[in-house]
Amino acid sequence: MPSKTPEIAIIGGTGLRRLKGLEITRRMVQKTPYGEPSGPFIVGHYGSREVVFLARHGLRHTIPPHRINYRANIWALKEIGVSKVISVAAVGGISERMAPCTVAIPDQIVDYTWGRGHTFFEEGLSEVVHVDFTEPYSEPLRRALLEAGRRAGIEPVDGGTYATTQGPRLETAAEIDRLERDGCELVGMTGMPEAALARELELEYACCAVVVNRAAGRSEGPITMTMIERNLALGMERVRRLLGEVLGG
Ligand code: HPA
Repeated sequence: MPSKTPEIAIIGGTGLRRLKGLEITRRMVQKTPYGEPSGPFIVGHYGSREVVFLARHGLRHTIPPHRINYRANIWALKEIGVSKVISVAAVGGISERMAPCTVAIPDQIVDYTWGRGHTFFEEGLSEVVHVDFTEPYSEPLRRALLEAGRRAGIEPVDGGTYATTQGPRLETAAEIDRLERDGCELVGMTGMPEAALARELELEYACCAVVVNRAAGRSEGPITMTMIERNLALGMERVRRLLGEVLGG
């Protein structure tokens, strides 16, 4: 059978450079008016579905959050005909309920990033465009992730505001206090402009966030890579089970 373009793409963050269980059928190198995506698109079968996988930080995990070409990634996914994007992201937990290894499906975003290519609507416009972003994530896709998580026995947290910081450094304790006052429960570095760009191109987009550390000032001592890596391994195992359910069915 000739392979058509998969409907679903997964953008894997830290800890998800490869999708175990994906039977790879082809690799696609896409060029865009915005330059090159983070790496080749890996296309294959996962359970009963065909999916596209992209490693957000590159296959060797060398692209820091503020240097990711978000526009190229999203443009290229649209170009090949994907309609749904599941973002997987490692994050810090600010509130009590966002404990390490929690999987959360956030429902809001506050954007603290700057200087990233954050829109497609800036050159050659016939008129200025403002997209609605009241609800930054696709509710049907969020529901699908939540239900898949429940089926997988994970009980993901439903909702929470994801603060996207510039990075690559982690935050100060005072910055985390401020994010908490702003109503944020999760903090990561890649949530934006990815979500807004997906909205501009009318892609359904939702995020599966894995808490890998308590945010700065929310636990004793510094945040160590050892701690992050341990939680990442456990958390990503849970994400893989969730993805297995969402894609397998
Ligand atoms: N802050 C920002 N980004 C992160 C964190 C954090 O504590 N943990 C993982 N990504």
